[in-house]
Amino acid sequence: MTTFTPGTYLVTGASGGIGAATVRRLVAQEGLEVFASGRDRDKLAALAEETGATPLPFDLTKDDEVAQAVGAHTWTGIVNCGGDGGEIATPQDTDMDVFDRVMAINARGTMLVTKFAAPGMIEAGRGAIVNVSSQASLVALHGHISYGSSKAAVDNITRVSALELGPHGIRVNAVNPTVVMTPMSAWYWDRPETGGELIRKMPLGRYATEDEIAGPICFLLSEDASMISGVTLPIDGGFSMQ
Ligand SMILES: NC(=O)c1ccc[n+]([C@@H]2O[C@H](COP(=O)([O-])OP(=O)(O)OC[C@H]3O[C@@H](n4cnc5c(N)ncnc54)[C@H](OP(=O)(O)O)[C@@H]3O)[C@@H](O)[C@H]2O)c1
Repeated sequence: MTTFTPGTYLVTGASGGIGAATVRRLVAQEGLEVFASGRDRDKLAALAEETGATPLPFDLTKDDEVAQAVGAHTWTGIVNCGGDGGEIATPQDTDMDVFDRVMAINARGTMLVTKFAAPGMIEAGRGAIVNVSSQASLVALHGHISYGSSKAAVDNITRVSALELGPHGIRVNAVNPTVVMTPMSAWYWDRPETGGELIRKMPLGRYATEDEIAGPICFLLSEDASMISGVTLPIDGGFSMQ
């Protein structure tokens, strides 16, 4: 049975597939107060109705919104799951506005939440942060220069935050999932000419489910992972080890 420190937990990207699956798992744990974040207020309200989580809408690209929402609580645990898939493009064809947007949401957004959550966690002398990165930061994937670069930044934010916050009793880890067929990825990977090659190279030979990502996220957030910090954990059926 997974053990969590009782307290207040934040999941960004909760209006999306992996974030909502994570909220569902966390609210099933006794004694946890779970805040569900994203921009889509209707989706957050529906998730709140279903689970009892509290909606906390904010835009990860707006410093004042993040500061106000995140800084208003002392968080026991945070899942930085909000993200943008960007575009599939070669370096020479990359749209720099898309590059900037993906970096702003995935990398800078993760940094902002960490920045405004850390003071309360430091004061409390404990906390756990799990950043949702990607297999695209671990290996070179065609067309993923913007997205993969943003997730490589997330991996570094994870390691340096683990180094700096560890002495305050705060653990910081990342998960690096393979493809999950949420709207973010289905438009590209759910085609034989793209998905086929990835599946052929993956020892387990299939995509992941939302729950297969939410499970390891919750493990890293929990007391069961009390001696784990600074890792970037592939959840990719063995794809990135080759
Ligand atoms: N699906 C995959 O294959 C896959 C693989 C590896 C890693 N990941 C990562 O897993 C995470 C969740 O992805 P998902 O598949 O669940 O995608 P999703 O269903 O498209 O969800 C994306 C989430 O990010 C939020 N978001 C996007 N831009 C935002 C912004 N500016 N401010 C606040 N929230 C914002 C969305 O909220 P709103 O819609 O309410 O704005 C939504 O909740 C992402 O970080 C993604 O990069 C996904």
